[in-house]
Amino acid sequence: MKIGFWKKLKKPVFSLAPMADVTDSAFRQTILKFGRPAVFFTWFIPADGLASVGKQNLLKDLFFVEKEHPIVAQIFGANPKNIFLASKIIKELGFDGIDINMGCPEKKIMKQGAGAALIDNPNLAKKIISAALSGSGRLPVSVKTRLGNKTTSSSWIKFLAKTDIAALTIHGRLAKDDSKYPADWFEIKKAAAFAKKINPRLLVFGNGDVKNLEEAEIKSELYHLDGIMLGRAVFGNPWLFNKKIKKENIPPKKIIQALLLHLRLFKKYHSYKNPALMKKHFNAYISGWPKVKNLRIKLMKTKNLSEAEKILKFFS
Ligand SMILES: Cc1cc2nc3c(=O)[nH]c(=O)nc-3n(C[C@H](O)[C@H](O)[C@H](O)COP(=O)(O)O)c2cc1C
Repeated sequence: MKIGFWKKLKKPVFSLAPMADVTDSAFRQTILKFGRPAVFFTWFIPADGLASVGKQNLLKDLFFVEKEHPIVAQIFGANPKNIFLASKIIKELGFDGIDINMGCPEKKIMKQGAGAALIDNPNLAKKIISAALSGSGRLPVSVKTRLGNKTTSSSWIKFLAKTDIAALTIHGRLAKDDSKYPADWFEIKKAAAFAKKINPRLLVFGNGDVKNLEEAEIKSELYHLDGIMLGRAVFGNPWLFNKKIKKENIPPKKIIQALLLHLRLFKKYHSYKNPALMKKHFNAYISGWPKVKNLRIKLMKTKNLSEAEKILKFFS
């Protein structure tokens, strides 16, 4: 079992969830300015694409800077050979670990036999984990998954615990569950206990609907977990991983300055991307202030990010 950087982390481990088109390097660097998760994840990258000649665009999604360490690259796929090749590339890019997505419920991912479809196909999941372990050199391999596909599956979690993965993140929903219903933390606790019984060295993290670090601390203790992965709570709140600061207490000017920093980093590192991806963050930072309705309308009407930058500079 390769544990790598995971063994250096102090428990409970609070990580930033992979979120496609949200948690890019610009956002991760903004978060680092105001707090620090124990570990970052990139969003999921198709192993088939990484193993193909057209990998250049995907490599851009794997961009990170030195201070983002420890950082884990997440991949998905159903072809062990491509998982092997993708893992080799990730190792060469200098990541600290490789995470395999075995929980994405999107139809287009499951149709390929990847993501949450692997829950019903442990034989293939085993080959995929072995391929990642062979390609990753000394890097540890982890898995992010769900409680099951259609029903809760303790056999799935037990199966994963018997493999050589170093860490397992369990999202507290089934693949068919809508995220408007709450994550099932009682089931996460049960699943984690099954996994720990089989492999006490395996790090097990819970994920789903956690709003802040206090809640993360309580949940990791209450449900006997090694840590918590937080996702959507970071939208508009790069202070999420800072124990001493609550966004509610931050003056609007400072929030606008944080958004300005995020926007400038996005322009610096991701100028080739659709600016709409950055615009999606605007509302998250400034929502809930009746007084800034004007600012919100102005920002939404901007035609490009430089225009938005000027407006934010004026208000900051
Ligand atoms: C916009 C968005 C993109 C996501 N992309 C990924 C992804 O690339 N890989 C993954 O494993 N999970 C992905 N997820 C799921 C999150 O990692 C996380 O499991 C989910 O948001 C639940 O955690 P939360 O309630 O703390 O947000 C995504 C979620 C969102 C909202």
